[in-house]
Amino acid sequence: MVTESLTITDNRTGKSYEIPIHYGTYPDYGAAINALELRQIKASEEDFGLLTYDSGFTNTASCRSSITFLDGEKGILRYRGYPIEQLAEKSSYLETAYLLLYGELPDSAQLLEWVHDITYHTIIHENIKKFMDGFHHDAHPMGMLIGTVGAMSTFYPDAKNIHDVDSRQKQVRRLIAKMPSLAAFAYRHSRGLPYAYPDNELSYTGNFLNMLWKTTEVSYEPDPILERALDVLFILHADHEQNCSASAMRCVGSSHPDPYSATAAAAAALYGPLHGGANEAVLRMLEQIGSVERVPEFLEAVKSGGGNRLMGFGHRVYKNYDPRAKIIKELADEVFSVTGVNPLLDIALELERIALEDDYFVSRKLYPNVDFYSGLIYQAMGFPVGMFPVLFAIPRTVGWLAQWQELLLDPDQKITRPRQVYCGSDERDYVSMDNRQ
Ligand code: CMC
Repeated sequence: MVTESLTITDNRTGKSYEIPIHYGTYPDYGAAINALELRQIKASEEDFGLLTYDSGFTNTASCRSSITFLDGEKGILRYRGYPIEQLAEKSSYLETAYLLLYGELPDSAQLLEWVHDITYHTIIHENIKKFMDGFHHDAHPMGMLIGTVGAMSTFYPDAKNIHDVDSRQKQVRRLIAKMPSLAAFAYRHSRGLPYAYPDNELSYTGNFLNMLWKTTEVSYEPDPILERALDVLFILHADHEQNCSASAMRCVGSSHPDPYSATAAAAAALYGPLHGGANEAVLRMLEQIGSVERVPEFLEAVKSGGGNRLMGFGHRVYKNYDPRAKIIKELADEVFSVTGVNPLLDIALELERIALEDDYFVSRKLYPNVDFYSGLIYQAMGFPVGMFPVLFAIPRTVGWLAQWQELLLDPDQKITRPRQVYCGSDERDYVSMDNRQ
């Protein structure tokens, strides 16, 4: 790591400080100063020292990471250096998962063993079915997923041994393998259908489709186009560096609970409509708009404020077309060739067409993100909207685990505990009830 420096002059005292600048892989992307260096900057001896204020962490690096690189201005996304476009075209979800976790693409023996390990961990404990049965028939599947993945920590007490490499690897495999099983069970519970068990002859996504849709056939045969499309969607959703849910995973993981508890926290962070819940919100928005003719009226309402947002547009980091959205838009045609075109597609295309020419969206650099088209594909494949965030959580589990593993192996990492700028009352005396206004 090259070190150069920054000179800061404190105009309160006239004193100057030299602060080292640290670099990552790219000198023009990610140069940073250590925030703690600012604490030496004091107005007086009693002064605590300068803090940085960064609500929403818009300009704060919380870690050094080697997993995912993302340049939002240029629309670049790479996992371990490999462009997302190449992985989506040539890799499989499980191979990509291995790459994210272990840093390199597996050789054929490693891949065989990895796929075997994941496949043979897909079965979930029968008691988990009892939890599922306790949920209301109309419980949101994401709520069921969050609850049951957290509950899994009670089934695997060895998962507390987070510093034991073998135990950690076992939990990683269990989590990647069992998330689709929990998700499918949640779906079947909400439909009042009997649970379908995993089929070890099928691929990761093929088996997930089996657990969702299998009825009375002896063995379920997934449509190869839909199976591959889901696999590509899983690759695209596998990691996205320090987003809200990955940060939740790292934040909770930093106090060293087992990974099931930390994953439940990450999944809860994903659930919100500003993050992984956006694909569900997009579909509800398209349904609410109802027709292409009503698109201009809807966009006017968005522009005039009042709380309406164009869901599936905008991103904290991308100030360019989200590269994942580009791939998904192309994938949609393949899926629609099997399922028939989603009638909401025309509304989405019209929204995108107008928004990309409208000064409100152009000046704010608001482009379609990963969630804008994914919901249309999921709906065409037969998923109810409540399953959309679940379909995000399954593949993102590997990203959370890769981030968690990196956190545990990084000697720089400490328990997450931000500071605050206190703006409340100064010290005052307790007021008895009789004297309160
Ligand atoms: N529709 C209308 N206006 C928007 C939108 C939108 N979707 N997104 C941002 N803006 C406006 C916002 O009102 C603000 O305008 P002004 O400067 O006049 O106040 C400006 O653009 C900057 O917005 P911001 O809220 O400060 O930006 P942010 O970085 O805090 O928020 C975001 C990022 C993704 C939460 C936001 O763009 C948004 O709410 N998008 C819709 C929800 C969505 O699609 N989320 C999925 C994100 S991608 C999947 C994932 O990684 O989870």
